[in-house]
Amino acid sequence: MCGIIGFAGKAEAVPVLLDGLERLEYRGYDSAGIAVVSEDGALQVKKSKGRLSVLQKLLETQEPLSGNIGIGHTRWATHGEPNDTNAHPHVGQGGKIAVVHNGIIENYLEIKQSLMRKGFVFSSDTDTEVIVQLLEYYYRKKSDLLEAVYDVLNRIKGAYALGILCSDFPDQIVAARKDAPLLIGYGEDGNYIASDATALLAHTRTVTYMEDDEVAVLTAEGVRIFDGDRSLLEKEKHTIEWDVSAAEKCGYAHFMLKEIMEQPEAVRKTISCRIADKEIVLEELKDAKELLKNISRIYIVACGSAYHVGMVGKYALEKLLHIPVEASLASEFRYSEPLLGESALVIVISQSGETLDSMAALREAKRKGSRVLSIVNVMGSSIARESDYVLYTWAGPEIAVATTKAYTTQMVLLLLLGVYLAKQSDIIVREEYGKIVGEFQKLPEKISAVLNNLKDYQKSASRYFNHNSVFYIGRNVDYALGLEGSLKLKEISYIHSESYAAGELKHGTISLIEPGTLVIALAMYEPLAEKTLSNIVEVRSRGAEVIAITTELTAQLIGSQSSELFVLPETHPLLQPVLGVIPLQLFAYYVALNRGCDIDKPRNLAKSVTVE
Ligand code: F6R
Repeated sequence: MCGIIGFAGKAEAVPVLLDGLERLEYRGYDSAGIAVVSEDGALQVKKSKGRLSVLQKLLETQEPLSGNIGIGHTRWATHGEPNDTNAHPHVGQGGKIAVVHNGIIENYLEIKQSLMRKGFVFSSDTDTEVIVQLLEYYYRKKSDLLEAVYDVLNRIKGAYALGILCSDFPDQIVAARKDAPLLIGYGEDGNYIASDATALLAHTRTVTYMEDDEVAVLTAEGVRIFDGDRSLLEKEKHTIEWDVSAAEKCGYAHFMLKEIMEQPEAVRKTISCRIADKEIVLEELKDAKELLKNISRIYIVACGSAYHVGMVGKYALEKLLHIPVEASLASEFRYSEPLLGESALVIVISQSGETLDSMAALREAKRKGSRVLSIVNVMGSSIARESDYVLYTWAGPEIAVATTKAYTTQMVLLLLLGVYLAKQSDIIVREEYGKIVGEFQKLPEKISAVLNNLKDYQKSASRYFNHNSVFYIGRNVDYALGLEGSLKLKEISYIHSESYAAGELKHGTISLIEPGTLVIALAMYEPLAEKTLSNIVEVRSRGAEVIAITTELTAQLIGSQSSELFVLPETHPLLQPVLGVIPLQLFAYYVALNRGCDIDKPRNLAKSVTVE
């Protein structure tokens, strides 16, 4: 969702803020703004509807803002349409205090009405303006900014990461968080706040993760962090391993394409430190045997693409572990009375580690006594910190809104976990185990082989990009893959698309198939390829054009019934979906490119969904 940056230092703040916002823009991009306190103590604010580039132009053409301290924001609208007034920073009535906010204040209406009764006048429709006016109210009463901040935090309900500037304290930024990410960066030329580390890589890799209810005061010289009781804390500092280029396009037209192409390396990183001497070693899960003894069911909980990984995991883990595994949408999970307790293991999958629904599911699981294992990409994120066990994907920063390398590495890690647990509980036979481990190690080179045929997918996309509706069909893990392929296409190309379990189509949806309808048939899962073939024949006989994706094993069978055929390298059936998703990503990417879509920043979306 929204991105926050703040800088208190010796250099000019505006370029630092704009650079940070550019790197955070993937979190939300319907408006942007900055506030800077000048040397003579004046609060200056510039904000604008639209992409960051609009704000940049505004700053170039108008009188420049100057000062060594400032905050910035890039917005994904929740309360109030994207316009200049609703853009952040919001400024208190007295013109002294500015606030940027990521999250949602649930009781904002009640507070707004109470402040209006006291004579406060609101100019925006946002929940954030309530924070700044409330802060103004308490600050006037107490003349102590920090005390006023604590008063505000005691009064507001919801999720927030906040950056606060007050011209009475021209050398300070105050920051606070609850259920929304915020970290502090320690640089040589000053100190920073940011929603995520990518915004800071050009300046520093030394960071501290703020925890819920903490309040930080930053100046150019140092940072003090207090807990909810106002006690000064000694916080651990962490080093971010990612380098700057990891968050730059490096010659690619889009981050999405770069991230697709990075998959061999990303998968290599995910597995290389976890396979030694033909053995899977999960240091993070040393007590696996003990854990497994007490577990009789597994829930895999996630949102969007991460949920699709969970669906592949359901099929794989049930087969490997012989216990019931349910893949559950995080937004449904906690309202569906899942059978939690000590005998359930909950696996939460999240690239960002900040998705609010997934976080809430995690907390519900812990509250009910279940152990939680998370698969996360962003180090130090909330989900990682609150889980009993964390497996990091090590995919590097993912900037494109549509996930690719995070999805693939999540899947690899989940499968690796499944095989590891099967070995720990002696369910898998030695020979089979050895075969799968060998295939894990070959994945990077096989992914590269699929990527080498990039031009074929490009060609296919240029043939089909004008279709208005696309169906994906498949069985078992191919069905789960179809869901991901369909989501990729929808989110970046805006083409209506649906994914169906191939055998289910005839129970209603086949009525939508007419001459020329595009069906993408996934038949990589060999045990069910023949069954899928029957469904391909059904849509073909109603005039559908079929792009089929198979492996060498079933290429002949499926090829006879398809308009176009893509044949993937074979691997162990359990791992086949890792290769199977690559064509779907490439197809969606090139279709969107042909349609002239804004691939890295699709409309209405944002990365890291920190609202319910
Ligand atoms: C789609 C996509 C989303 C995310 C979902 C969960 O391309 O990226 O569906 O997978 O919002 O996000 P994380 O993994 O950060 O919890």
